Amino acid sequence: MRAAGTVHSGYVISTIDPRLYGSFIEHLGRAVYTGIYEPDHPTADRNGMRQDVIDLVRELDVPIVRYPGGNFVSAYDWEDGIGPRDQRPVRLDLAWHSSESNQVGIHEFADWAEAAGTEMMLAVNLGSRGLDAARAFLEYVNHPGGSYWSDLRRKNGREMPWGVKMWCLGNEMDGPWQIGQKTADEYGRIAFETAKAMRAFDKSIELVVCGSSSPKMPTYPAWEATVLDYTYDSIDYISLHMYFDNHAGNTADYLAQNARLDDYIGTIAGVIAYTKAKKRSKKNVYISFDEWNVWYHSREADKQVLEGREGWPHAAALLEDIYNFEDVLQVGCILNTFIRRSDIVKVGCLAQLVNVIAPIMTVAGGPAWRQTTFFPYLYASHYGRGNALQLSLDCPGYSTDFAEDVPYLDVSAVETEKDGALTFFIVNRHQEQAIEFELALQGFGERKVIMDKVIEGHGLRDVNGPEKEAVAPREGTGARASDGRLNVTLAPLSYRMIRLG
Ligand code: AHR
Repeated sequence: MRAAGTVHSGYVISTIDPRLYGSFIEHLGRAVYTGIYEPDHPTADRNGMRQDVIDLVRELDVPIVRYPGGNFVSAYDWEDGIGPRDQRPVRLDLAWHSSESNQVGIHEFADWAEAAGTEMMLAVNLGSRGLDAARAFLEYVNHPGGSYWSDLRRKNGREMPWGVKMWCLGNEMDGPWQIGQKTADEYGRIAFETAKAMRAFDKSIELVVCGSSSPKMPTYPAWEATVLDYTYDSIDYISLHMYFDNHAGNTADYLAQNARLDDYIGTIAGVIAYTKAKKRSKKNVYISFDEWNVWYHSREADKQVLEGREGWPHAAALLEDIYNFEDVLQVGCILNTFIRRSDIVKVGCLAQLVNVIAPIMTVAGGPAWRQTTFFPYLYASHYGRGNALQLSLDCPGYSTDFAEDVPYLDVSAVETEKDGALTFFIVNRHQEQAIEFELALQGFGERKVIMDKVIEGHGLRDVNGPEKEAVAPREGTGARASDGRLNVTLAPLSYRMIRLG
């Protein structure tokens, strides 16, 4: 099978915001406890944080991490996580039917973020609490001193404010599972008033209002229209979430699901444009896609804890999806969609980062290890920064129940300003056939292949583990750049990243 395409140096979609490759840590399962924090671990630093995990987060070069939830945040009292650790309360976390020891709070997480070389994106509780707790938290985190909350932070050991820029106004407030779920009108009002109070403190912070928890929500997309009607001029981003699954065991359908993601983004881009026109506003609002990932492998196993059959465990193994080779292809396709829609999607958070539906796993007391999906995320984070380029593609495709003509090749292109390198991320979704791909390179001058990584030749259900990194990239062969063309043969069911210098 053959496919052809053209890419031109002048056809820029957008300059990618590096925060497109962010992630997420929630107080959930073992993300925090025995994930990032394990004071007895042989690699623990002086704050009790696992250095082996920090090293892997640094390897991924994660630009921003959302914290502390997620569903957890909607019944969380942030004050429980400050002050002397031996005096912090143990609370019942209603979101995940777990006990929360509060041994990690904002101070510990901020220290970890600094050690991991990442920025914090904080969420406030608009479920069980509201404006008052949000403004107090903001003052605690960002005010230099001379006020009640900022002086309390200093007393608790942190002299300088953290200066957190990005704040989420609640989490998934449309969801019936959310503590303090709201109608779009109720949420629109409280989000507007909270934004007003937070901006009265600091106009320069960036605020994220909740969009739909998924395009399957019955209130989608009217939710976005109502919420933006209340908040458009007070916020900067609307958040979207989407999780992908292959419960049906249908690889072709599964790997086409980013067509749905594309529709979801396009629809909300339309709602944003509609609201902007309705408000006669000059302001642009963008999408913060602050939860996305494959999530289904662990759903059945989690019922035990989530339905309360184990009481209220602390740091139980929850949402510990073990990703396979098929998921590598899926994550590659999702990241390609974000690159292609980087004109409107500015922030993205792979949900989540450690142990909970995560690219990084840990064994308590033992090693940290890379899941299969670590690698497409790693490559996008490292080489997907710069200008996303428009690419025309002429490629045979297939149809599913929800999309027509899904091309067998899923491709995105990024030109990095720093070194002028041109990077292509390519997934071949075809299950039997290799595809000979010829890409015309216009306006780039003479180029040669400087890096070629491939993940292919694995069984779809192959996984990694603490002892074996079975699914990992290796060097690609046979890609040629000459006479203004890139020629490469993509193996069936393969992920490939090719860089031209
Ligand atoms: O990431 C896991 C959960 O998924 C989050 O807590 C919630 O926001 C979403 O439903």
